[in-house]
Amino acid sequence: MRRAAICRLFRHLALLAVALAAAGLTAQGRFRQPNSEYQARRERLRTETSGPVVIFGYTGHEDASAVAVFYQEPYFYYLSGYDEPGAALLLIPNPPAGKTLEGPREILYLPPRDPAEEKWEGPKDGPDDPGITEKTGFQAVEPFANLRGDLTRLAKIFPNFYTLVVPKQEEGYPHLTIWNEWLRAALAQSNIKDITPSLDAMRQVKSPGELALIQKAIDLSIDAHLDAMRRMRPGLYEYQVAARMKEVHEFGGCEREAYSPIVGAGFDGTILHYSSLDGQIRDGDTVVIDVGGEYGGYAADITRTLPANGHFTARQREIYDIVLGAQNAALAAVKPGAVLYGGKNSLQQIAYDYINSHGRDREGHTLGRYYPHGVSHHLGLDVHDPGDRMRPLEPGMVVTVEPGIYIPEENLGVRIEDDVLVTPTGYRVLTARLPRTAEEIEKIMAEGPSGAK
Ligand code: GLY
Ligand code: MN
Ligand code: MN
Repeated sequence: MRRAAICRLFRHLALLAVALAAAGLTAQGRFRQPNSEYQARRERLRTETSGPVVIFGYTGHEDASAVAVFYQEPYFYYLSGYDEPGAALLLIPNPPAGKTLEGPREILYLPPRDPAEEKWEGPKDGPDDPGITEKTGFQAVEPFANLRGDLTRLAKIFPNFYTLVVPKQEEGYPHLTIWNEWLRAALAQSNIKDITPSLDAMRQVKSPGELALIQKAIDLSIDAHLDAMRRMRPGLYEYQVAARMKEVHEFGGCEREAYSPIVGAGFDGTILHYSSLDGQIRDGDTVVIDVGGEYGGYAADITRTLPANGHFTARQREIYDIVLGAQNAALAAVKPGAVLYGGKNSLQQIAYDYINSHGRDREGHTLGRYYPHGVSHHLGLDVHDPGDRMRPLEPGMVVTVEPGIYIPEENLGVRIEDDVLVTPTGYRVLTARLPRTAEEIEKIMAEGPSGAK
């Protein structure tokens, strides 16, 4: 009797485990989207491509440092929502006329389970786990070792295969180089083509689920910026400002920073991607704070520039208002059809023209020379999300607007960076809760740390 009850309990628990897995409630990426979202992306790519698509996840060996936490390859994650190492996916189009092809059209390949490693790393998925197709949302899940044979069979039907081809600037780096070579060996007679442009074009237009994750990353990053405004004072070290901001992100559920935090006081604020953060903030400095968290895989990217002592000097304020004016001019141009780069109506040109026609340096030169970077990039799974930056904007795209002026000889850097959603009629500033004007910033700073959490 008792034994029967225990057996029933175990059966119920096992069923519950499968049901939870199928509902995507087990830990598989933090704040993952439903399987249907990834399935829809795969189906779109599969039906729009003339050959099988193979994408490899990271193996977990890409970064050997002691602090490395496994981080999934972003294109692979975009198509799978799958967050464990050593996986690959294969999408198989319908066969050309006159050929038949049975079997699944999308396969997730997983490495075998390794009980010894699981003692250290915790339970992992295996290709033979009960309920693994329901959990992952793929039509089929197979051992990784089957991939090569499956490709060989498909090569008899399809002349072209697609993968992420190593971009020129990344030749020599391990992940894509290794897998490109592996594919060339496995498919010696086939054409291997680049799927990156198609995937980039998809990734540039965000779904409602992606927008929700981006907004969450932004909201936590705004909280962190507000906290920094209230705590800022001369004497703090740049790393101390970043430390508090990271705490706000992580306490709110961010997995990590979306990029290496930039907190640069005085001259340090003129170094665009300053990352050592070892300077002490002095009275009279401006402090460039470019810090954003990553939530559910999605990045926020926000910059504010603060006066260390709570009050901009007249010169700092002059430069600040020029950057703000350039940002407002570029923002006003954001709408479907506008371009970030290329041509006189591009956001880049608008921001540059504004900066170059307002204010002067000490020698009387115009200020365009002190604005050396781009005004915008797409934002998503990557902080610099991939894709064609000359492509006309479309509703659902998320871009930054981030002009700056950096005058090293005046130890003066100012950048203002906001994240913007392109809407059917124009734009919505996703970072609008974080004040941008000098007056508003000085007012929040005057509240002091008592206003901070
Ligand atoms: N935080 C990097 C950038 O603004 O592009
Ligand atoms: Mn940016
Ligand atoms: Mn930034």
